Amino acid sequence: MKILVIGSGGREHALCRKFLENPAVEKIYVAPGNGGTKLTPRCENVSVSGIDALAEFAKAEAVDLTMVGSEELLVAGIVDKYREKGLAIFGPDKKAALLEGSKAWAKTFMEKYGVKTAKYKVFTDPTEAKAYAGTCDHPLVVKASGLAAGKGVLICQTSAESLAAIDEIMIARAFQDAGDEIVIEEYLEGVEASILSITDSRVILPFISAKDHKKIGEGDTGLNTGGMGTIAPNPYVTKEVFAQFERDILAPTLRGINAEGMRFAGVIFFGLMINARGVWLLEYNMRMGDPETQVVLPLLENDLTELLQEALAGDLDKTELRWKPEHACCVVLASRGYPGSYGKGYEINGLDAVQNDWLAAGVAEKDGKLLTSGGRVLNLVATGKTLEEARQKAYSDVELVGFQGKYYRKDIGISKK
Ligand code: AMP
Ligand code: GLY
Repeated sequence: MKILVIGSGGREHALCRKFLENPAVEKIYVAPGNGGTKLTPRCENVSVSGIDALAEFAKAEAVDLTMVGSEELLVAGIVDKYREKGLAIFGPDKKAALLEGSKAWAKTFMEKYGVKTAKYKVFTDPTEAKAYAGTCDHPLVVKASGLAAGKGVLICQTSAESLAAIDEIMIARAFQDAGDEIVIEEYLEGVEASILSITDSRVILPFISAKDHKKIGEGDTGLNTGGMGTIAPNPYVTKEVFAQFERDILAPTLRGINAEGMRFAGVIFFGLMINARGVWLLEYNMRMGDPETQVVLPLLENDLTELLQEALAGDLDKTELRWKPEHACCVVLASRGYPGSYGKGYEINGLDAVQNDWLAAGVAEKDGKLLTSGGRVLNLVATGKTLEEARQKAYSDVELVGFQGKYYRKDIGISKK
């Protein structure tokens, strides 16, 4: 069996690792991949990009299954293109991908089907948006509706900040077309959780919960990043919280998917806020999270290839997900300066000494050496019987790896955020 994984981050390296547990997987092409996937046996990095070229490649190489890491190609319709050509791909088609690609559309969907979410209004006119923001309590959340690489959400403490946020998104066009439409929504206090799931549009099977740490600084300070570390399960997702999630978010989402006639096999990643008033949906992502994938997959006992095939066959009602009764922790090593500007090309040392697992993200390979090539460079991942054990194992590996400008948060799994 041949698989094509599209992407170049730690998430994609983790996906390759998990696929390779199945001995029937003879080859994984990774487009474009990174220095870690390049050195992984049975993996081959290929420099193919763009929907048409990727579909052509899958056909020419007789790829049995394609999986896409990040959202851009899904929203642009890669699944529809594969379907036209009769090729197997796991992920939402263009219509279902709108649940991530348009926050305005997603909020309308949530409201229509009774998914518990913050109160909101959608605007395409900045003057109307400002008039409305002036009447709202603060903090207030102003969001560019389209894809903005995780940067399009602005939390505003005062009405002056809201007006400035609307100007930044709609007038200065900080996120280009993604800001032609905006969502203004009520600010929710609480603790966040990520629950990924797999669906065949008939059932949604939730994964073990995870917790991301989004800010660059310890104690939830500084700028937002793609994620500085994760743990699974999320200690705030108690049995009671999970039951509320299933009732108030998962079940109405499935009703909506059916009522809208969406038919796809893919991931639904629920970005949640938990507070005394219940569990709220902040957003849908229609792909695996990064770095959530890095802690969820090591705890999954099912074979990933078989799981995706069951989803594509519409057979998930017969599938039972099995989870190791363990905890996982992923610490991201980043380049100093990230999420702003940072240096690249520094040699990475010490990976041979790592006792648990490491995954490459912003890593390039040159003449057998691994060099930093991005903001988030490496993921150190460990599992343990307790969260504390998993943390200690991951952090002891952190000490063993070095590169110029190495930066990481010391409170992954401890900080509430
Ligand atoms: P989103 O892309 O919609 O998940 O937003 C990105 C991040 O912004 C979330 O992970 C939260 O930290 C924050 N956020 C989004 N919406 C809200 C909200 N209504 N209240 C509080 N924080 C929010
Ligand atoms: N870690 C958050 C995301 O993948 O969107």
